[in-house]
This record gives sequence, C-alpha cells and structure tokens, in this order.
Amino acid sequence: MTDLTIVGGGIIGLSVAWRCQQRGLRVTVLDNGSDDGAWYAAAGMLAPAGESSFGQEALTALMIESAARWPGFAAELRRETGIDVGLDTHGTLAVALTGDDLAEAQRLWAYREQHGMGVHRLPPSEVRDREPALTPRLRGGAYLPDDQQVDPRRVLAALRTALGPAVVHRQATEVPPGPVVVAAGLGTAALTGLPIRPVKGLVLRLRGEPGLLRHVVVGQVDGRHVYVVPRTDGDIVIGATQEERADATVTAGAVLELLRPATELVPDLAEFELTESVVRHRPSTPDNAPLLGRISDDVVVAAGHHRNGVLLAPVTADLIADLVIEHSAPPAAFSPGRFA
Ligand code: GLY
Repeated sequence: MTDLTIVGGGIIGLSVAWRCQQRGLRVTVLDNGSDDGAWYAAAGMLAPAGESSFGQEALTALMIESAARWPGFAAELRRETGIDVGLDTHGTLAVALTGDDLAEAQRLWAYREQHGMGVHRLPPSEVRDREPALTPRLRGGAYLPDDQQVDPRRVLAALRTALGPAVVHRQATEVPPGPVVVAAGLGTAALTGLPIRPVKGLVLRLRGEPGLLRHVVVGQVDGRHVYVVPRTDGDIVIGATQEERADATVTAGAVLELLRPATELVPDLAEFELTESVVRHRPSTPDNAPLLGRISDDVVVAAGHHRNGVLLAPVTADLIADLVIEHSAPPAAFSPGRFA
C-alpha cells in the first residue's frame, strides 16, 4: 500500500520521499535506475553566497533558508543510515585574478552583504595565507563563511539507504495515478508539459595528494567563473561549464575552459591526475527558479532547480511534505503555473 508516489529518484525526489516517510506516509519512489541526474555531476557546493545573483530575491531567500537546514539534514541522515555525507564547514574563498575580475566580484559581494550573508574581504596576502597553493597573481578575494559543501554522491547513497525498498526501479512514461509528486528533473517536462530545459554542465575530477586546498575556491579568472572543490580524500572537483544545449559530448574546448582558469588559480593542479569528466544537464526553468506546487488535485511538482538542486534539497523536501500533508502552499514565486 502506498500513500504517495514520487516520480524521480534524484536528490530532490529522494529528499521529498524521505521527509514524507519520516512524517508517517507510506511512499514509493519510481527511479529510472540510472545515474543520469544532475546530482551525479554536482560538486555539492551549498553556496547561497557564491551562487545567488542580482534580482532573484525570492530564490536567494530560499537558498539561505535551505543552507541553514543542511547541518540538521546531514546529521539526521547520518543518525538514520550511518553514512557521513561529507558536510564541510570550512567556508569558501572567492578570489579574483585581474582588476576587472575584482570589480565584477565586488558588485556580487555587495549584493550578498545586503542579504545578510557573510562576506569578509581579504587582500591578496591574506587570501594566500589561507590557501598558500593559490597563485600570487591574485588581485583580491573574500572569505564566505556561510558557503559549505557536501558530497552529493554520498547524500544519494544515504537517502537510498534510508528509503530502502521504497525505491523501485521503474521508468515512468506518464504520471501515475495520484497522489503523486513529480520530481523527475528534466523528465518532468515530458511528464507534465511544464517548461524545463536542459542546461549542459561539464565537471572534472582530479586526484592527487590530499591537503592541497582546505576551502572551496570560487574564482573569477579573466571573466570566467570556475570553482575548485577539495574533498578530504584528495579528489578535487572542478566545475562547471554552463551551455544552453542538450548533448552529452565532452569537448576539448570545454575541458580547456575549466582547466585553464583552475590551473591559473592553483598551479599545482597541473600535476594531478584527471580521473573523470562528466556531463549532466541542469533542469532549468525560464527564470531559473524551481517549480514547487500543485498542478492538479492529485499532482504536485518539485523540479527545475537549475544550479541549486543540492543546496535546495532540504527546504524543497520540507515545503513539499508540508504541502502534501498539511496542504500549505510553497511561496507563490515558485508556483508551477507562473509561466502560463
Ligand atoms: N551549482 C553549480 C553548478 O550548477 O555548476
């Protein structure tokens, strides 16, 4: 017997299912059995300060709220499954290579300060005191204490463990009889007709001696944005391209687009082994904010999280569980009908 079917076994679908299950519902998750979701490539930056941008007030507030829920979410997952999802609270260093890069970065830092997020500006010498592996050519930087990281592949393993047999490997070709939550990422478009498009992202993984970097580093390098995310086991995740296309080809140009700025920022990375290049597609909406809400009496949608699926998983799960169980609607800014 199922009280609620969730279509989609990515980070959003599983998080929604877990929270609904914790609140007493019998859930079934239909998962297509592949790792084709955006979570598989994601670096796992929990970056309300690093990823928010001008004019997205409601989204910025949602990101800040979800970041605050991550420590509890990770701790509960660990208690329930024994799996450490790699929540790392060292914070993020935002750095700028040229004067133009610094001017651009400073406008974004000011926007983030206006929203109450911590931004500690640092001269180049102090940036390098924090991360000696960074190039001495930097023009400046800022420490963003609120921006953390988790390892999304470990989060998925933990959620799958927590849900156990509730996750069924089956491809949904149409929306099943309700009550149902469609959280199928890009697949949500075909299932519901809602406007979700693929935005291609290439992510690289490098492997070398652990300890080269302590913080997540987000860099502005000759007008290019790159992030370098160190894991405790020595893996370094470098991301990501953002291309309005749906193919999955790893092009030499895209690899260069990531490796050139990453090695300019952290020259020693050139010695690391390149172990993985992976393309996935962000499920993105016309305003790049998620679709959260009811589209009919029996069908709820939680999809279209663009660059922020990992960050927004805890708040999305709570909002959708509130909607399903208590009938309280998520903020209207995320209404699935807003583009009609
Ligand atoms: N959240 C980072 C990205 O989508 O590239």
